[in-house]
Amino acid sequence: MKISVIGCGYLGAVHAAGLASVGHEVVGIDVDAARVAVLSTGRAPFFEPGLDDLLAEGLASGRLSFSTDPADAADAVVHFIAVGTPQSAYGGGADLRYLDAAVEGLLPHLSADALIAGKSTVPVGTAERIAERLEQAGVRTIVAWNPEFLREGFAIEDTLRPDRLVYGVEAGPRGERAVELLDEVYRTVLDLDTPRLVTSRETAELVKVSANAFLATKISFINAISEVAEAAGADVTAIADAIGFDARIGRRFLNAGVGFGGGCLPKDIRAFRARADELGVGASLAFLGEVDSINLRQRDRVARAVVDALGGDPTGRRVAILGLAFKPNSDDIRDSPALDIALRLQSQGATVVATDPQAVENARRVDPDLQFAATAEDAIAGSDVTVLLTEWQQFRDLDPASIVGLPSSPYMIDGRNVLDPFAWREAGWIYRSLGRP
Ligand code: UGA
Repeated sequence: MKISVIGCGYLGAVHAAGLASVGHEVVGIDVDAARVAVLSTGRAPFFEPGLDDLLAEGLASGRLSFSTDPADAADAVVHFIAVGTPQSAYGGGADLRYLDAAVEGLLPHLSADALIAGKSTVPVGTAERIAERLEQAGVRTIVAWNPEFLREGFAIEDTLRPDRLVYGVEAGPRGERAVELLDEVYRTVLDLDTPRLVTSRETAELVKVSANAFLATKISFINAISEVAEAAGADVTAIADAIGFDARIGRRFLNAGVGFGGGCLPKDIRAFRARADELGVGASLAFLGEVDSINLRQRDRVARAVVDALGGDPTGRRVAILGLAFKPNSDDIRDSPALDIALRLQSQGATVVATDPQAVENARRVDPDLQFAATAEDAIAGSDVTVLLTEWQQFRDLDPASIVGLPSSPYMIDGRNVLDPFAWREAGWIYRSLGRP
């Protein structure tokens, strides 16, 4: 099937390469010429495990190409829209300018028997608004919403073997045609017995934001418990383990620590609240404001623990930061708690030396004044306090005994609760974590 994917960021590039890998003919369109140039050489412009290989395979097969020109999408039967919907500069709502630009760019190239399938996370009602815009322009293309649930770091797996597919379509024959086309796109996924839910467009839009709001709530819930556990001298990881055995609760997304970041959860809960306000049901999602506050408070907690470790004054003291990406297996620093804390400590006068296996170049662009080290050992050497903020495997695997001689002061603050307190203390470190005695 001929498919276009408009927007080739973390979502679109993976979607395009994934669909080419299952046999479709895919063109990825992006306004960023530099990004298109890199993708066209078979390299991902960001770090995502396995993506380089998938891109190279797709290009070599002749089924995958990239372009800056929406006209190259003209003969596609399905147009996926995968552009970013960041937080607006004027409040919590979503900024839909890239989405609107993508639709306007496609308009002259749309045929009546084609389908626009939105994948971007959008405020409920967006698909309807796009459909109205097409109607106004006299274009008969069908509009559906097909939200994406992929996680960075597992994006290929999540694209080729998702937990579920959701098709949000209009009622009637046009909706049925949309289902037929999406079934053809996802034939290999459906062959794996993947659950497929067909809903209205509004429901599909809400499925996506509800999923992210629930995940954010789960993390903030355990972080709130972590604050109480710390005050009471209890252990939040044991609490998470114990409640997680209840299948109704589940252990995943109950890791307390510095909290959630990234290009999705933080802005999605804010946009969801803003949309609920517009719909006159703001009270229903007011709790997401608390979820957001709890989350941001974790960053204060860690920053305060560092300042405490330094006797109250970070000026001129050396702080080693392990991790800059918002989570492991990613180079994404959007709303990263780790980078936020590094910058806060730097602004308080500390000499911050940070390291990350993939995110240093992105962080350097945000703040060239931070110091960067190639390895954890280099960052830790000479430090007055070390803070683990992104739980990359290589940081989890550090051997406390063999590196205890490196810092000026062997003080470890584990902002992700992933190190073994006993091993680190046994090796001579002062070890502190969040919500564990
Ligand atoms: C999230 C969702 O998990 C995906 O399902 C969704 O498709 C995606 O947003 C999106 O909307 O595009 P992602 O942003 O890649 O995916 O990252 P997550 O794995 O959800 O992690 C988000 C943040 O939560 C990270 O900063 C992570 O460190 C933090 N987290 C996660 C915790 O602090 N504790 C946990 O127990 C789990």
